[in-house]
Amino acid sequence: MKGIVFLGPPGAGKGTQAKKIVEKFGIPQISTGDMLREAVKEGTELGKKAKEFMDAGALVPDEVVIGIVRERLAKPDCEKGFILDGFPRTIPQAEALDEVVRELGKAINYVIALEVDDSELIERLSGRRTCRSCGAMYHVKFNPPAKEGVCDKCGGELFQRDDDREETIKNRLKTYKEQTAPLIDYYRERGNFYAIEASGDIDEIFSRIEAILNQ
Ligand code: AP5
Ligand code: MG
Ligand code: ZN
Repeated sequence: MKGIVFLGPPGAGKGTQAKKIVEKFGIPQISTGDMLREAVKEGTELGKKAKEFMDAGALVPDEVVIGIVRERLAKPDCEKGFILDGFPRTIPQAEALDEVVRELGKAINYVIALEVDDSELIERLSGRRTCRSCGAMYHVKFNPPAKEGVCDKCGGELFQRDDDREETIKNRLKTYKEQTAPLIDYYRERGNFYAIEASGDIDEIFSRIEAILNQ
């Protein structure tokens, strides 16, 4: 069982590294951000409710995201493990997660915090591009596609996320510091906690993560 939680500020590389774990270890990535963006795109009730919080760089209410994760973790593909990318983000979410994994007979075996300086986060987020078709992630400067605006993997169109505008980025960083950073102490006290330096080469960062997961 590999139950993994990625902690880290916006732009730390949670999504980028989670996709590499999916490839290497064959366990699913559970990104609450991706799931909420999907709901916004489909125009569901959930999506309508979530959009204002997301556009403001604030968190969607706990009970909403807890419900989503509870349902997702119960799916059969989570049997051998899962990577939670962007959940939990508050202490009540972390407490709910403990309860859900206990109910489902699963465990959180690794909590990995990705550490990057603020100035780099802003640069990463403002240059991020995502594939509309397959979700692959790029950066105009740090990880550019071979052809501008086109996904290397599937040929899909690359777009910029609505919340990657400067004002919203600042709010997201503030929200992280106020509401999510306290989870570092929460998990540090409970063991299975690993903090890694997450700037520099994407593959080198992944090697650090792999070393932890192979313990
Ligand atoms: P979410 O989608 O989770 O966004 P986030 O936490 O702000 O994180 P990001 O996805 O922006 O960053 P990332 O760490 O995945 O970095 P990435 O790999 O893309 O949440 C969005 C919103 O949804 C929230 O604001 C909130 O409203 C709501 N929400 C979601 N979950 C919630 C929850 N649990 N509770 C309540 N609300 C919730 O990398 C970023 C860029 O950097 C990319 O361009 C990438 O190519 C580049 N990059 C990656 N690694 C490197 C490297 N080593 N060097 C240089 N560039 C790099
Ligand atoms: Mg992400
Ligand atoms: Zn693609």
